[in-house]
Amino acid sequence: MKSLLVTGGCGFIGSNFVRLLLANDAAELKSRGYDRLINVDSLTYAGNPANLQDLENSPAYAFSQTSILDQAAVGALLGEHSVSTLVHFAAESHVDRSIDTPEPFIETNVTGTLRLLEAARAHWRGLEGDEKEGFRFLHVSTDEVYGTLGPDDPAFCETTPYAPNSPYSASKASSDFLVRAYFHTYGLPVVTTNCSNNYGPFQFPEKLIPLVTLNALEGKPLPIYGDGKQIRDWLFVEDHCTGILAALEKGSLGETYCIGGRSEMENIQIVSRICTLLDELAPAVENEKLKAAGHTSYLDLITYVEDRPGHDRRYAINCSRIESECGWTPSETFDSGIRKTVTWYLENQDWCRVISEKKYARERLGQA
Ligand SMILES: NC(=O)c1ccc[n+]([C@@H]2O[C@H](COP(=O)([O-])OP(=O)(O)OC[C@H]3O[C@@H](n4cnc5c(N)ncnc54)[C@H](O)[C@@H]3O)[C@@H](O)[C@H]2O)c1
Repeated sequence: MKSLLVTGGCGFIGSNFVRLLLANDAAELKSRGYDRLINVDSLTYAGNPANLQDLENSPAYAFSQTSILDQAAVGALLGEHSVSTLVHFAAESHVDRSIDTPEPFIETNVTGTLRLLEAARAHWRGLEGDEKEGFRFLHVSTDEVYGTLGPDDPAFCETTPYAPNSPYSASKASSDFLVRAYFHTYGLPVVTTNCSNNYGPFQFPEKLIPLVTLNALEGKPLPIYGDGKQIRDWLFVEDHCTGILAALEKGSLGETYCIGGRSEMENIQIVSRICTLLDELAPAVENEKLKAAGHTSYLDLITYVEDRPGHDRRYAINCSRIESECGWTPSETFDSGIRKTVTWYLENQDWCRVISEKKYARERLGQA
């Protein structure tokens, strides 16, 4: 029995990763030599079991509602399921929330990662031979640890010095350093990925792309921070998941891999693109709320608001290393990925409704 354990598998990227591996009777999981996938998630506000509802009964899947802070419980799961690979997604992930209340970010992202590393180290130490040799801990991190870029600066790469600017990115940077230290101090076989902004199905509607799509359909204002010219490098979530698998299987131990979409866009361009796609797929003239307000296009809803404090101006990723060393490339362009995403939100209004009925804060624009 060989198992892959993910933390945070009920969140946005984690659930897409789980779905990719469990689709078609767990074909991807099995082709990679695993019998089971164990999802460890404490189900915070961002963890949504509905993201995986259709896969719940898969014989290759097991779920445990457990916090990564509970080292003993995670350690027991690692042993019980003979885990040979651990992919660590669990985190507090929303920059605006980290500005309002930084402490949970330190608790989950720093202390939680430390306890997970300790549980993994104890488990790995007890393995022998090929099992010990083959064990992997993949840490999922962000490009935000590198800080911000000027308009003409070269894109972030693996050797860019860390310069986090928000409590979120500082907590992720700390977790990256802990992972690095466990490799250098204890020899734990780790690989870290630092990825740019993701978008796609199942993203919690506090983040820019789902928030704009859903607010637009409800005829609500589409608030843009500052001048809207903040640049992010956008990657379709499934491409991030295949990048993680590539780094896991072909990456060198103790190394980090930047993952990005080579798709730099200003926030205002993203919002405008969503509006024009909605104008095509769900015309404003057929939307009762927009008609009542006299709007003929979703673009009419764009509203500029005061900028977020410490808002990083530009992120860009040079992903040459993972491309050349691990043979990975993204398969979606921004145009194809955003069309799939907006279509998914239009076709999955029930999923969106459940979340909004739980009265999650949607009034703030989450521009990570
Ligand atoms: N979203 C992005 O654009 C992006 C980009 C690069 C890297 N990342 C990183 O990818 C990872 C996943 O991001 P996401 O956007 O899917 O986040 P998310 O907020 O959608 O999901 C986080 C998940 O972690 C779970 N979780 C939180 N605290 C936990 C704990 N103590 N124990 C167990 N589970 C816990 C939550 O319940 C949730 O299911 C994070 O580490 C994030 O830093 C995200």
